Amino acid sequence: MTGIRHDIRFYVGNECHTLADVSPTRTLLDWLREDRGLTGTKEGCNEGDCGACTVLVVRLEGERLVWRAVNACIQFVSMLDGAQVLTIEDIRAPDGTLHPVQQAMVDQHGSQCGFCTPGFVMSMVAGRKADGLAQDERHIDDMLAGNLCRCTGYAPIVRAMRQAMQAGPDHFDAMAQDMAERLRGLRDGADVEISGPAGRLTIPATADALARILVENPDARIVAGATDVGLWVTKGLRVLPHLVPIGQIAELRRITRGQDALYIGAAVTWQEARAALAEILPQPDAEVIRRIGSVQVRNAGTVCGNIANGSPIGDGPPMLIAAGAMLHLRRGDVRRTIALEDFFVDYGKQDRAPGEFVEGVSIPLPDPQTVIRAWKISKRFDQDISAVLGAFSLTLAPDGTITRARVAFGGMAATPRRASRTEAALEGHKWDETTLEAARQAIMEDFAPITDMRASDWYRRTVAANLLTRLYADCGPEGARAPISVNSACTAAGEHAHG
Ligand SMILES: Cc1cc2nc3c(=O)[nH]c(=O)nc-3n(C[C@H](O)[C@H](O)[C@H](O)COP(=O)(O)OP(=O)(O)OC[C@H]3O[C@@H](n4cnc5c(N)ncnc54)[C@H](O)[C@@H]3O)c2cc1C
Ligand code: FES
Ligand code: FES
Repeated sequence: MTGIRHDIRFYVGNECHTLADVSPTRTLLDWLREDRGLTGTKEGCNEGDCGACTVLVVRLEGERLVWRAVNACIQFVSMLDGAQVLTIEDIRAPDGTLHPVQQAMVDQHGSQCGFCTPGFVMSMVAGRKADGLAQDERHIDDMLAGNLCRCTGYAPIVRAMRQAMQAGPDHFDAMAQDMAERLRGLRDGADVEISGPAGRLTIPATADALARILVENPDARIVAGATDVGLWVTKGLRVLPHLVPIGQIAELRRITRGQDALYIGAAVTWQEARAALAEILPQPDAEVIRRIGSVQVRNAGTVCGNIANGSPIGDGPPMLIAAGAMLHLRRGDVRRTIALEDFFVDYGKQDRAPGEFVEGVSIPLPDPQTVIRAWKISKRFDQDISAVLGAFSLTLAPDGTITRARVAFGGMAATPRRASRTEAALEGHKWDETTLEAARQAIMEDFAPITDMRASDWYRRTVAANLLTRLYADCGPEGARAPISVNSACTAAGEHAHG
């Protein structure tokens, strides 16, 4: 079937749900707990920070089952069309045997009051399913960084994860074919249109349908991963009368690596883009991307949602601006491409016309003479918003002259912005200590940051200048462009606290 459907369909565990009167912004957490009575999934913060509400969302992508841990408190039920949700109630095997993760939590004493435990278990089950990630200690830290525990302490939980990683297949492996078959049965290529007292929901099946719907309804609100929009609802109590989820539009889920550029479509998540971006931002394991939220946030939040949101402290824009990214916008059949920095007009104001949407972003592949670095400065290492993010791209001639410099910062102005005076102080000069000093002076004139709860204006300017020194240490004449270790990147942040 193509055409229009007037309900959404998805599984929770093995039960198929068809909802024709869903509120577009009903959170999955509220729906599970209040409508379904599935109270194993807990509410801690209701803003994506604590992981108590972690569930698994399984989708059939092509012919592959993909398992993702997400925060149910900031996912809308309306975004789940075509998916299977697994909650803590689904984790035991059908014969009642504990899942290897649950058994490991018991064996390693990984739970005390138990409030955080369902969320941890779900993150750990997802961690066992995640592919493309090294199954090592770093992976364990990564998988657990989005879950907080206030009484057991993390060491027994980490031990439990270690044990669970060694365990053999679980009952989900045996059920994979059935799960895929069921999800295949939900595919029909239809647009979804639901209107009710709680608002209007339109889920376009294609990018063309999205373009048409937005021209006809310029006030409709796009939602990609809802890791920003979700908080407008749960914390800001905003009412969004017409929601348009775009996360499952196949054309917007493309990542392509051409000869000159990497293209990331509007529905590609941070987690999906991470490996490709790592080639452009050559820090080990794309360190700075690993520090965007938690795995739950990166599994839902998109690169383009981060851009479109326009926050001055979003981590994506400064990195992508320094790398020379171009933004692709579409309104109806009209497309335009602009330099990413030109998208950010003022605080809360972007260069996007009514009915226009971001189709994707492309990032030029750096040539061998260009070094790109980015450092995030925040109070905690994991799951924290930047006080400052500095990103640098320098092209160096064989004699050490900087032939091209692009420097961009987040957290230093009302928008993510290039540091034009700093770039001028670098370009055309030998990359030596005199140039470094001139650039450090210039950066003080480039920005007049604000003081807020994250950092003072003095701290922000000092740290911005110090990042230039770090750049020099890392890829100046003496730096030999050595890879950066996690700990040294962390030292730049001043503090290193987990959880
Ligand atoms: C706990 C937590 C931690 C976080 N940590 C970080 C962090 O460390 N660094 C960071 O930068 N961010 C962080 N964020 C913010 C957020 O995760 C990112 O900004 C994310 O990339 C947003 O993407 P999304 O797909 O969820 O956007 P959504 O919430 O779906 O949308 C955000 C905005 O963009 C618009 N939009 C989305 N897609 C399009 C499109 N294609 N065209 C036009 N408009 C569009 C929406 O209408 C909305 O206005 C965090 C969020 C949470 C909840
Ligand atoms: S309740 Fe804390 S992340 Fe959802
Ligand atoms: S066991 Fe009590 S919060 Fe983790």
